This record gives sequence, C-alpha cells and structure tokens, in this order.
Amino acid sequence: MKILVIHGPNLNMLGSRQVSVYGDQTLAEIDSLLENAASELGVELEIFQSNHEGALIDFVQARAPEATGIIINPGALTHYGLSLRDALAATSLPVIEVHLSNIYAREEFRQQSVIAPIARGQISGLGWRGYIAALEIVAALEA
Ligand code: DQA
Repeated sequence: MKILVIHGPNLNMLGSRQVSVYGDQTLAEIDSLLENAASELGVELEIFQSNHEGALIDFVQARAPEATGIIINPGALTHYGLSLRDALAATSLPVIEVHLSNIYAREEFRQQSVIAPIARGQISGLGWRGYIAALEIVAALEA
C-alpha cells in the first residue's frame, strides 16, 4: 500500500515560517514523524513538496496510479488551486486535506477550500499531529 503525501507552496519553510501559527517543526521533521508512523502501520509513503502548482499536478498524475490514497496540505492553493483540485479529483483516490493551522479561525480568504469538496475529509488546526491522524485514517480506509 503506497500513500502519497503532498506538501504545497511555502511548506518547505516550516520551522522558521510564522512559528506561532504553524509550529516550530521543520518539514523534514514532520516527514520523519510520518515515516515512523508509516513503518508502524506497515504502509509505504511517497512524499513530495513543491512551490509550483504544475509540479504538484505532474506528481499527482505520475504517482497516483500506484497509490491507494493521498494526504495533501495544499498551502495557499487550498483557496484557489482549481487545477490541483481537478488533478486530485481525476485520481478517484481518497484524499485527506490537512492544515496545520485552523483555516476557519483565520482571514476570510483562508476560510474557503476549493479542495474540500473533492476530499474524503479535512483535518485543520491540529498541527503536525493532523498529518499522523490523516495517515492512520487513509491506511484504515484502504485496509
Ligand atoms: C496552511 C493554511 C494555508 O492558508 C496557508 O496558505 C498555508 C498553510 C496550513 O497548513 O495551515 O500555506 O495550509
């Protein structure tokens, strides 16, 4: 079972970016926590980050055929990334949308997700633990 973990724009800056909002874990630390959880669950991860919507779409198109689920934090593309949404929807895989911060408690433009309607579910505001919860859920969905 292979699960795709996708991080969108600016998430490569975690650890130094608005620490009070996003926490002080780096993306590498979050990825390592995910890898540990994945090996305990007996699932394989393929993790990708890009600041470019097209690169994210290319990754989804190339890797989804061998995957059983997708965990994605689309960053700001959450709010306007229709091409990314279409690419995710085209896979027919269960998609779990994850946000470190609670997007519903922030600026108005963050309170709408164009990804949520095609996602199986969304986890928002639980920090890095949201990724681990998403992984447990995707693994259980496909078990
Ligand atoms: C985010 C929330 C988005 O609004 C923001 O643009 C991000 C991170 C989050 O994880 O809380 O880059 O997706």
